[in-house]
Amino acid sequence: MLMDLEGSIAGQDGRSGSLSGPADRRVFSAIRSHADAVIIGASTMRAERYRPMVPRPELVESRAAAGLQPAVQLVIVSVSLDLPWDEAVFAESTFRPIVATCEAADPANVETAREHAEVLICPGESVDPAWLLAQLTARGLRRFICEGGRNLLNAFAEAGLVDEWDLTLGPSAAGVGFDLVDTTDDEGFHFLRYVKKDNT
Ligand SMILES: NC(=O)c1ccc[n+]([C@@H]2O[C@H](COP(=O)([O-])OP(=O)(O)OC[C@H]3O[C@@H](n4cnc5c(N)ncnc54)[C@H](OP(=O)(O)O)[C@@H]3O)[C@@H](O)[C@H]2O)c1
Repeated sequence: MLMDLEGSIAGQDGRSGSLSGPADRRVFSAIRSHADAVIIGASTMRAERYRPMVPRPELVESRAAAGLQPAVQLVIVSVSLDLPWDEAVFAESTFRPIVATCEAADPANVETAREHAEVLICPGESVDPAWLLAQLTARGLRRFICEGGRNLLNAFAEAGLVDEWDLTLGPSAAGVGFDLVDTTDDEGFHFLRYVKKDNT
C-alpha cells in the first residue's frame, strides 16, 4: 500500500498513481514480480486502470526459476459484479482474470461475469478470504499479493491471512510536497520527520 503523509491512499483524482513516483513504481513492480496472483477489491478495479497481465520478457527466466507462472493472474473480489468489462485486462491478459463473488450475487450479473472472466462463487453473503486462498491454491497458485484497497485488505488482515505488509509512505500531504529530513526506529515504530519543500 502506498499512502501520503495524511494516510490518503488515492489522490484527488481517486487513483493511487497521483501519489506515486518512479521509486514507488519500481518497488511496486518488484513486489509484483514475485507473485503468482494479484488480488484486488472491485472498487480498486473500478478506480484504477489495470493493464493486461502479460509476461514481462526480462522476468520470464527468474519467474520460471522461482516456480512462478510466466504472467500474473488477476483476481477481483466483488458482490455487485459492477465491473468495467470492456477494459483490455479482461480480454488481453495471458490468464483469464478470476472474479470471486458469492451466493448473494445477482445471477444475471454472474452470467455477464462468466462472459469475461472465470467466476468463483463463495457460499454466503461475501467472499471469505480463507476460502478464496484455498480455491486459488487448489489451482496451483502459491504466492499472493493483495494490492488493496483498504476494504479488501482489511478482510484479509482480520482473517489473520497477511504474513507480509509492504507499506510505502509518499512525501506529500494534500498535494503539498515535503522532504524527509530525519528517521528513527524504536520498538517497531518508525518515526519520520518531514519539512515542507522550499519552493522559492
Ligand atoms: N494507495 C494504494 O496503494 C492503493 C491500492 C489499491 C487501491 N487504492 C485506492 O483505494 C480505493 C479503493 O479502496 P476501497 O477500500 O474503497 O475498496 P476495495 O477494497 O478496492 O474494494 C471494495 C469492494 O470490493 C468488494 N469486496 C471487498 N471485500 C469483499 C468481500 N470480502 N467479499 C465480497 N466482495 C468484497 C466489494 O465490491 P462490490 O462493491 O463490487 O460488491 C467492495 O465494495 C481506490 O480509490 C483505489 O484507487 C489505493
